[in-house]
Amino acid sequence: MVIVMGPDATQEDVEAIVEIIDTAGGDAFVSRGVSRTIIGLVGDVAQFATLNLRGMRGVADVMRVTAPYKLVSRDNHPERSTVRVGGVPIGPGTVTLIAGPCAVETPQQTLEAAQMARAAGATLLRGGAYKPRTSPYAFQGLGEAGLRILADVREQTGLPIVTEVVDAHDVELVASYADMLQVGTRNAQNFALLQAVGGIGKPVMLKRGMNATIEEWLMAAEYIAQRGNLDIVLCERGIRTFETATRNTLDVSAVPVAQRLSHLPVIIDPSHSGGHRDLVLPLTRAAIAVGADGVIIDVHPHPEQALCDGPQALVDGDLDELARVMREFPPLLGKIAA
Ligand code: E4P
Ligand code: PEP
Repeated sequence: MVIVMGPDATQEDVEAIVEIIDTAGGDAFVSRGVSRTIIGLVGDVAQFATLNLRGMRGVADVMRVTAPYKLVSRDNHPERSTVRVGGVPIGPGTVTLIAGPCAVETPQQTLEAAQMARAAGATLLRGGAYKPRTSPYAFQGLGEAGLRILADVREQTGLPIVTEVVDAHDVELVASYADMLQVGTRNAQNFALLQAVGGIGKPVMLKRGMNATIEEWLMAAEYIAQRGNLDIVLCERGIRTFETATRNTLDVSAVPVAQRLSHLPVIIDPSHSGGHRDLVLPLTRAAIAVGADGVIIDVHPHPEQALCDGPQALVDGDLDELARVMREFPPLLGKIAA
């Protein structure tokens, strides 16, 4: 456990903490930094939890660094990381737009969606060839034929590809086409899949499980990191709540929380969280304002014919506004669109 003292904490405040920990049978190690004092606690964490340390004078924060994730933890890596996908940065200082069709349906539809994405300022192309569907009767994706279409469209547009892999057995195949592998919300705790993508040597976008706590999300990332791959981008895509007015509830607070706990970049998916096109631009603005390192957005040339998630896809008429948001919002936060 670690206690971060506030900038105004006095010597007496620090000594009071050391004393209470001592009385509880633990050890407190005081380290005085330039602007803050940090107190590391060793001993019975459950016992410390009963002491109301957070309420003591001078305490700014109490953190459990017994957190089981280590490689993705910010404690072990104070600088926030940048992940590069085909040369495109995702990380602090930039806001990266990833856009494209939810599902790859035809070469023409994918190319048109990629052109829409590029017109809005996207530097990476999204598109699913393997679709994780609720219904076994729904369109499941074109599989390898879809990956070939994505590769052709990359050739034509120059946009590197982000695409989902849903099965550990397909990781090698998908990685042979993709610039970045996506692990979706439904597979966010498929540990065999996480280990497989961790071992393949390509950047990974890990969506938050729709029922996962932030700690569970970071533990999932740790599975990937533990296989030697630290090129991981976290994606908040909405969680299940009692609210039914939106498809999922976008947890904007997950961005600063995950960025505080982990050095990994954090992006937002306003399409799958809101589930409706009218919500995508407002949630994109919110994403940039809260400090997200990027957004991933569905676009479709003919959403009324889409085989997956048409209602949440942006259309031609939305692109000018998306481009404006991408141009004007990041500089307000000292960032640039990547
Ligand atoms: C899209 O990307 C997902 O596959 C989709 O959101 C799944 O949802 P559904 O199968 O319930 O439509
Ligand atoms: C997707 O982005 O294509 C997707 C399936 O998203 P999610 O896993 O967030 O539902």
